[in-house]
Amino acid sequence: MPLSEFLAELDELAKAAMAAYESAADADALEAVRIQFLGAKSGRLKAVQKGLGKIDKADKPVAGKRFNEVKRQIEEGFARIKFAKAEDNLHIQQEVARHDPTIPGISPPLGHLHPITQTITEITDIMGRLGFTVTEGPEVEDHWHNFDALNIPAEHPARDPLDNFYLATAQKTTTAKPQAGWLLRSQTSTVQIRVMEQTSPPVRIISLGRVYRPDTPDATHVPMFHQIEGLLIDRHVTMADLKSVLRLFGTSYFEDDVHIRFRPSFFPFTEPSVEIDMSWHGGWVEMGGAGMVDPNVLRTVGYDPDQFTGFAFGLGIERMCAQRHGITDIREFYKNDVRFLHQF
Ligand code: DAH
Repeated sequence: MPLSEFLAELDELAKAAMAAYESAADADALEAVRIQFLGAKSGRLKAVQKGLGKIDKADKPVAGKRFNEVKRQIEEGFARIKFAKAEDNLHIQQEVARHDPTIPGISPPLGHLHPITQTITEITDIMGRLGFTVTEGPEVEDHWHNFDALNIPAEHPARDPLDNFYLATAQKTTTAKPQAGWLLRSQTSTVQIRVMEQTSPPVRIISLGRVYRPDTPDATHVPMFHQIEGLLIDRHVTMADLKSVLRLFGTSYFEDDVHIRFRPSFFPFTEPSVEIDMSWHGGWVEMGGAGMVDPNVLRTVGYDPDQFTGFAFGLGIERMCAQRHGITDIREFYKNDVRFLHQF
């Protein structure tokens, strides 16, 4: 075979390979082209290589050198095209994924505070402006703070096991107090005693927190609910002060058109005592109780009832929040249904 013919064949092959690479549509087609030209068994390069044996001995070095050059050219051509196509693909993908700042963002779902927590914050704020500071008391209480010191006698029905969550195991570890034993507090009035035991008058506090009663749940009762307790002790405090504070509170939490009504009642720790109803864009709702702190309570904590008087009140937070938002069943607060909670 003449050398010129062999060299022409090689050039032909190189050109054909490059053209085939260029027109390969994707990575699979490109690989097929590679096998067609460089395949070890039946590749076209292999076929051309056979001609090498028929070259004159004198021309062999030149033919062999050119063959190797073309082989490398076809191999490198493959690698180069493969890389270039991969890069193109990447650019196309990046083009698609490129951030468009004009498209409105997707905001992640954000949680928020529970409506009762929001109410507590709001009430704290209102009462803070009226000069009341916040105190806290324990939810696991002893009989002294939940009953005795509040002038609730031993035989009083408020102590009935059916009306209280007494703690069986905690009872063993109690320290010797009058009426040993522990319970989940049934009212925040316990905090009145804890504060007065530790401070001298004047006192002007509120306490907000959970209380527990084994009530059958219904639209206005749940076994765990929240109360706000208020206590103001000073010289010359009267029922008129109680009414003023509750009125300021009521008109701040609701609106000016809220109606507040006192009904004569009885609580062992106040004398006289009233029940407080509020009405705002609806019927009357019983919110809690209040009264002038009973002299017995004042004496128990070491205050002189001839010098100091005061008022106290305790209101249900769920009921207030429900009234303001038109919720007719306070059990909704504790179902954790996000469709309900999202509205606040
Ligand atoms: N502790 C009472 C209850 O839970 C409410 C109450 C009534 C609180 C009169 C008071 C008060 O501070 O003076 O039913």
